[in-house]
Amino acid sequence: MPASEKKASLNSEELFKKARQVLAGGISHELRYAAPYPQYIARAKGSRMWDVEGKEYVDFGMGSASMLLGHGHPDVVKAIQTQVENGVFHANCHEGEVEWGLLVQGMFPASERIRFVASGTEATLLAIRIARAFSGKSKVLRFETQYNGWHDYVTVGTAEPYNESPSLGLPPEAISSTVVVPTDAARVEDALKKNPDIGTIICEASGASYGTVPLSHQFLRDLRALADKYKCVFILDEVISGFRWSPGGIQALSGVKPDMTTYAKVLTGGLPGGAVGGREEVMQLLDPTVKFKGKQPGVTHKGTFNGNPLVAAGAVAALNIIKTGKPQKHADAMAKKLRDGMQKTLDEHQVAGVVYGESSTFHLYFGKVDQRGLAGLTAAQFKGVPKETVKAFRKGLRTRGADLMSYLGGVTSLAHTDDDIGRMLDIFKSTMQDLIKEGLVGRA
Ligand SMILES: Cc1ncc(COP(=O)(O)O)c(C=O)c1O
Repeated sequence: MPASEKKASLNSEELFKKARQVLAGGISHELRYAAPYPQYIARAKGSRMWDVEGKEYVDFGMGSASMLLGHGHPDVVKAIQTQVENGVFHANCHEGEVEWGLLVQGMFPASERIRFVASGTEATLLAIRIARAFSGKSKVLRFETQYNGWHDYVTVGTAEPYNESPSLGLPPEAISSTVVVPTDAARVEDALKKNPDIGTIICEASGASYGTVPLSHQFLRDLRALADKYKCVFILDEVISGFRWSPGGIQALSGVKPDMTTYAKVLTGGLPGGAVGGREEVMQLLDPTVKFKGKQPGVTHKGTFNGNPLVAAGAVAALNIIKTGKPQKHADAMAKKLRDGMQKTLDEHQVAGVVYGESSTFHLYFGKVDQRGLAGLTAAQFKGVPKETVKAFRKGLRTRGADLMSYLGGVTSLAHTDDDIGRMLDIFKSTMQDLIKEGLVGRA
């Protein structure tokens, strides 16, 4: 038996018990917690994962949407193996980061210069620091329920009440320097008029939580115009949508040219990392040879693992496939099949609900919509499906062998097949039948 298929000696329940004695909360990311204990995953390959009990899942989480090519694509694995032989990490400049940067720049022409970081959170942290320095204004405008990472300057607004911090531990300045509004151009302009010290606008390109709260391309174009009018730096957060929605992300589809773009997830082929890209004039603030307002460089930025060779090797292998647009075409078709099939099941069972999503994503809204359809829902409503329904739905899928990403949605990949979609649709149908029996969903 290959080492990768070796069964763990402890089951998930036992592992969690042990984890509680060593890891804070027993976990490494708060969304990985599940009651009474999370399933521990032993391995993943293609579109599937196996837990330590040997149970197989069709995976629609795909490494929090980072594995557009599926788990363990042979080209990516080979590139990583080759790099391991040549040194995992040496903290020096190397050819791989140049090749990686050129691939990003080639797909995202608005990113005239790139700086690699170690995660999506670091990407938005750095982008906001550069934006403050460039604009000379301290406040940041962001949008209700959107997620731009977990650092202090993007925490306010992720949950209701939107003008308070959902977390303890933020300095008051970080709270008061964040202005949160709904995704409505008139409300944005109003906030910009009232707060002349807003110098940064950051927006999740897909709409909150990979499109759970959808967003129109027109809104992004409006933001571009408002950022120009009010002299703000416009950061488009493409951590999820970058490379997935198209090789050039949502900016290529919408024609919007942000001042800066934040990247992670697909950027790295599934390894840890991230990047900020932007207009040369803005990114010059990171150039050690350029003086800006008396500082050289204008913005200081370090980070031991930035652009590290192992990640760069995997990323270059992945992006060389992703730049063709073929993986996106396949993953999009799989997601569409899934959305159509799920909606058919809801309709046949007269469940009040809508299955929606762009690109290679799918989302569910359980509830009635009026004649305006999804356009009539607020961000809070999209994310306000009763907790017990969400829990029962996710658990029903898991028990039957399918795993989602977060909340009521997921993503597909190049590795998903018609067989995976058929299996998921069967699992979905029987899970829905349970939810109907338990009275957890409304009727159409
Ligand atoms: C849109 C968006 N921005 C930023 C982040 C933060 O990225 P990371 O988890 O790599 O820190 C995420 C993570 O899910 C995200 O979805």
